Amino acid sequence: MVNAVVDKLDSLLEEASSKISQTADIKSLEDLQHEILGKKGKLTQVLRGLSELSEEERPHVGKKANEIKAAVQKLLDERLLSLKQSALSERLEKEWLDLTLPGEPVPTGRLHPLTRVLREVKSIFSGLGFEFVQGPEVESDYYNFEALNIPPDHPARDMWDSLYLGEKTLLRTHTSPVQIRVMEKRKPPLRVISGGKCFRRDAVDSTHCFQFHQVEGFMVDQGVSMAHLKGTLSAFAKAIFGPERKVKLVPSYFPFTEPSVEVYIDCFNCGKNSSEDQQPSSPNSSSVESGLVLSESCRICGGTKWLEILGAGMIHPFVLRVVNIPSEYTGFAFGLGIERIAMLKFRIDDIRLFYESDQKFLEQF
Ligand code: PHE
Repeated sequence: MVNAVVDKLDSLLEEASSKISQTADIKSLEDLQHEILGKKGKLTQVLRGLSELSEEERPHVGKKANEIKAAVQKLLDERLLSLKQSALSERLEKEWLDLTLPGEPVPTGRLHPLTRVLREVKSIFSGLGFEFVQGPEVESDYYNFEALNIPPDHPARDMWDSLYLGEKTLLRTHTSPVQIRVMEKRKPPLRVISGGKCFRRDAVDSTHCFQFHQVEGFMVDQGVSMAHLKGTLSAFAKAIFGPERKVKLVPSYFPFTEPSVEVYIDCFNCGKNSSEDQQPSSPNSSSVESGLVLSESCRICGGTKWLEILGAGMIHPFVLRVVNIPSEYTGFAFGLGIERIAMLKFRIDDIRLFYESDQKFLEQF
């Protein structure tokens, strides 16, 4: 009887040892532990059988059973440790992270080139003491035209192909109405710029669009002259196109300024102007008409060496009278196209690119 039990215990240890060594994971090891040492486990069953033994036999077999139990437990513990270790090294093998690899770039949004130029223009003029004021995009005929010395049916209206919303309301064709709105309410001295969307009934091509952006600026005080206008715009041109830029004023016409000028900068693409007295061609005349000989063709200025950047002039006395500004005051005003400036600055040859939301184009800025 004793021998039978002892044999059973020995073979139990043998079996446990081989099964334990074959377990592949912690879960099956736990199952095995339960199978051997659990309440209904094989060893527990053998121990229960001890009660059938005689008083003398029991201690001997009991001792043996405890040794076997301890041996099984030891095997289980060792196996658990080695399974844990191999699970860990497997994870370390699989889940390693190379911290020296360059990170994945996170795509970030960026400012639209027109927003960039608008902000740059604003900050240049703000540095010159100009305050930014906003005006409405839907304007009345009065602010957009009449108060600016453009009466109804006057041929000057042809300069602005307008989009009317009603008989006397339209989408503003320029930012000049903001001048009137500000001067109506406030007394000089004034140094103000404004900017935003303008609209014209223009067919879309590489330089025209029915919607575009302007910045308007004006200054009114006693003794303001063309010299102040030229100095201000010269500072602006140098700030935005480089410190070596020269500015040239060419006679022009706007109903709300007298005298009126178109402002040109020397072409930043084809280098310094060789001849100081070379005249820029007016936008409407061909180079032959203006008597210019185009030596070499430049992609930016077409060989004229000068680039028109904006329209300006001394505010017309009619306009100052409309807003009740006393006659001892004078002022200058200018209006520039943000698209025009951006196209020159970034060498863009088609205005439509600004509105097409083409990511390949926009990501270059
Ligand atoms: N408003 C004019 C335009 O849109 C530009 C301009 C503004 C000219 C101010 C002179 C003075 O063409």
